[in-house]
Amino acid sequence: MRLSLYCAFAALMALPAAWADTPAKPSKIGLCAACHGADGRASTPEIPNLAGQNLPYLRGAIAQYKSGKRDFPAMRSALGMLNAAEIDAIARWYATRLPRPATP
Ligand code: HEC
Repeated sequence: MRLSLYCAFAALMALPAAWADTPAKPSKIGLCAACHGADGRASTPEIPNLAGQNLPYLRGAIAQYKSGKRDFPAMRSALGMLNAAEIDAIARWYATRLPRPATP
């Protein structure tokens, strides 16, 4: 009895952790989706895929577009419409998407 209670409790405690790994789709994703795709799979081969990219890398690249260290006006203007929390939600969203399978 004690064991099954413990198991039920452990399962309940694990649920929020699982949910935390799959963030909700950010409301402002449309600002990025036209180019990078809502799931981080870019619309054309000239645009980088973001799905499954490392979160620290995404944050660093975004900071460089914002600061102008990476000079790409379309990116800077899209990022300029978002606050820090919205940008972070989008970075976490893309980092947890599945990458496109490789094509030979
Ligand atoms: C008009 C199309 C366009 C839009 C809109 C756009 N991007 Fe980009 N993004 C690009 C292109 C093209 C590049 C590559 C630019 C370069 O050569 O540095 C890029 C690069 C990036 C990179 C770096 C990828 C890497 O592998 O280094 C990140 C991260 C990124 N974009 C995130 C975003 C986010 C977040 C948004 C929405 C706020 C956004 N982009 C909106 C076209 C776009």
